[in-house]
Amino acid sequence: MKVLIVGSGGREHALAWKVAKSPKVDKIYCAPGNAGIGEIAECVPIGAMEFEKLVDFAKKESIDLTVIGMDDPLVGGIVDAFEAEGLRVFGPRKNAAILEGSKAFSKDLMKKYDIPTAAYETFDNPEDAMKYLETSDYPIVLKADGLALGKGVLICQTKEEAMAGVQEIMMDKKFGSAGNRLVVEEFLVGREVSVLSFVDGKTIKTMTSAQDHKRALDGDQGLNTGGMGTFSPSPFYTEEVDKFCRDYVYQKTVDAMRSEGREFKGIIFFGLILTEKGPRVLEYNARFGDPEAQVVLPRMKNDIVEVFEACIDGTLDQIDLQFEDNACVCVVLASGGYPVSYEKGFEITGLENFRDKDGYVVFHAGSKLTDGKIVTNGGRVLGVTALGDDLKKARANAYEAVKLVNFQGMYYRSDIGKAIDEAE
Ligand code: AMP
Ligand code: GLY
Repeated sequence: MKVLIVGSGGREHALAWKVAKSPKVDKIYCAPGNAGIGEIAECVPIGAMEFEKLVDFAKKESIDLTVIGMDDPLVGGIVDAFEAEGLRVFGPRKNAAILEGSKAFSKDLMKKYDIPTAAYETFDNPEDAMKYLETSDYPIVLKADGLALGKGVLICQTKEEAMAGVQEIMMDKKFGSAGNRLVVEEFLVGREVSVLSFVDGKTIKTMTSAQDHKRALDGDQGLNTGGMGTFSPSPFYTEEVDKFCRDYVYQKTVDAMRSEGREFKGIIFFGLILTEKGPRVLEYNARFGDPEAQVVLPRMKNDIVEVFEACIDGTLDQIDLQFEDNACVCVVLASGGYPVSYEKGFEITGLENFRDKDGYVVFHAGSKLTDGKIVTNGGRVLGVTALGDDLKKARANAYEAVKLVNFQGMYYRSDIGKAIDEAE
């Protein structure tokens, strides 16, 4: 089979790495890809939003399966564009990707189908939002309705902050049209867990749990980022939590989407928060998490291509999804200055230390090949990933491995997985 992966980050590297393990696959392409992906796939210089060019490429190269990694093309309808040409593609159609594309939609869905989530109100104009915020309890959470590169959520401690937030999102349009509507949400306290799942329209199979670290600096300080590191499984995702979510969240979400005439095929990523009153859904994503994919996929036993095909064909009920009884930790190495401003083009050294090193893999996020050298090409540059028999061993392995690579300005959090200690 020939497989095309759309995207260029660490998540897409993890996907390509996992797809490459399938005996069914002869050749992998990635559009546009990065230097690490280029070692296992042929990178094609087509952007993820260039649907027509991607469809033409898939037809010309007789691609058997296309896998979409990123949210923007999914929300923009890339799956519909591929299906219109009779091409096989893994991911939700536009009318289902709205589960991630509109927070107002997902909140209304949860309310209508009684799926546990934070209380909220939706506003279409800033005056009404501000009036509501005059008498709210604080802290409170403001969310731009649409996609905002993971930055459209503001946690406001005071009324003044909230008013400034409404100004930024709805009036200054800091996140463009994503801010045409605003969701104002109750602030919840608890530990966050990411649960990714495969969905074929009717059946849902959840993967092993993971936990992200969104802030730039140790101790959850600093600005929000795309994610500075992950571990899997989460010791806080207990059997009791799992049972609650099976009863009240997972299948209910899939059934709700079907009832709305928006059958969901692809990945549903449940962003959960474990509150004192029980688990609540913070958000849905319609794709693998980044860097959650980097710690979940190395633990997955199945041939992922078979699972993708089962989702497309509606036969996921026949798949026995299995994960290794081990643990995985990914530490993101970022460019100095990320997530604000940073330089690119610094040579990355030490990558050769990872060739054929069992239990370790460096997933590239922002790298490119220039004059035979691999150089930095983004804010998040690499995800150093290590397996271990348990979380502590995986964490120790990952931090040992971090010492093997380097580039100018490199920084990383030294407390990825520290929460593990608190679980004891
Ligand atoms: P989201 O983009 O919806 O995942 O939100 C980004 C981050 O904001 C989440 O991972 C949480 O840390 C935080 N967050 C979102 N909604 C809430 C909420 N209702 N209460 C507390 N924190 C929240
Ligand atoms: N790591 C969070 C996300 O992918 O949205």
